[in-house]
Amino acid sequence: MTEPSEQPFSTEIQPADAPGALGQAAGLLGQGQLVALPTETVYGLAADARSPGAVARIFKAKGRPAGNPLIVHVDSVEMAKGCVAAWPSAASQLAGAFWPGPLSFVLPKADLIPDIVTAGGPTVAVRCPAHPLMRSVLAKCGFPLAAPSANRSSRVSPTRAEHVVDQLGGHIPLVLDGGACDIGIESTVLDLTGDTPTILRPGIISLGQLQAVIGSVAVAKPPAGDESLKSPGQLQQHYSPQAKLVVCGDLAAALGQVDEATHVIAREPAPATWPSELWHRLPDAAPDFARELYDTLHRCDRLGAETILVQSLPSTDEWAALRDRLNRAGAVA
Ligand code: TXA
Ligand code: MG
Repeated sequence: MTEPSEQPFSTEIQPADAPGALGQAAGLLGQGQLVALPTETVYGLAADARSPGAVARIFKAKGRPAGNPLIVHVDSVEMAKGCVAAWPSAASQLAGAFWPGPLSFVLPKADLIPDIVTAGGPTVAVRCPAHPLMRSVLAKCGFPLAAPSANRSSRVSPTRAEHVVDQLGGHIPLVLDGGACDIGIESTVLDLTGDTPTILRPGIISLGQLQAVIGSVAVAKPPAGDESLKSPGQLQQHYSPQAKLVVCGDLAAALGQVDEATHVIAREPAPATWPSELWHRLPDAAPDFARELYDTLHRCDRLGAETILVQSLPSTDEWAALRDRLNRAGAVA
């Protein structure tokens, strides 16, 4: 993908607790401008979801294909109901259990939401985020915010303000810095428009947790051809660092086959012979691993890594979203 040469903004980074920062963010959003904001999952690139002109700026800044719809962020079930044409009982049950939090519902869209948000489709994804800063900005605005992850299209989502600046600096007026995101990977996207609720994108809220609240839940399999994708987030090539990423089942064997400039992400310590600056040890519990994964991928990019070897992950439900992200970011060896 080519980077746009024009950089219309000198991007300001405001600590979230700076006096007037939230008002400044809400003011820009009210004028149809973009602001990058932290959520509990990843940083989002927000715009007034009701405004086609504001939302068009998101697609331009990200280099996002027009066919990939955006998630609309709301501060309450009431605001969500204004964005959708139907609110099934499963939505009420799940919102009761998981909102505010990292779960997005796909539902029939209301007229309030312009076609550009939904990529021309009849459905809209809605999510009520838990991050206090995002919630304060939503409350100040009083309108829903369309916000995809604040990265260039198909690249790794940002979990720190500096990741946003690396990718979108010069293309947006303001980033609110709220520190590192607590969850670290994107929300679970659940389609509630069919007979059986279906996970379109796995996230920290797992299949088992959803089933415990509403019973039967299916998991969408990414189809082979791009045309028939229900959710373009299922595109196989996604969430990629600039380096070539290889997930390997047998780490010890893989280490013997790569050159010593290879970066490694593993849940175990480096062998004595491996350069410690190229070994990125991540925690052995899924939520902790999720919190650090994208930051580590961004760090590898900054260090100019050409190849990243990642130790394959456990096959249990709680690791499903992380397996999904790694498999999309790389190739299974
Ligand atoms: O955690 C998150 O969800 C973050 C934060 C910022 O809230 N947002 C995020 O947005 O990851 P984005 O645009 O990077 O990913 C949105 C995902 C994509 O996979 C998109 O295809 C899917 O949601 N999506 C959005 N609207 C949809 C719709 N109407 N039908 C099916 N999939 C939809
Ligand atoms: Mg994204």
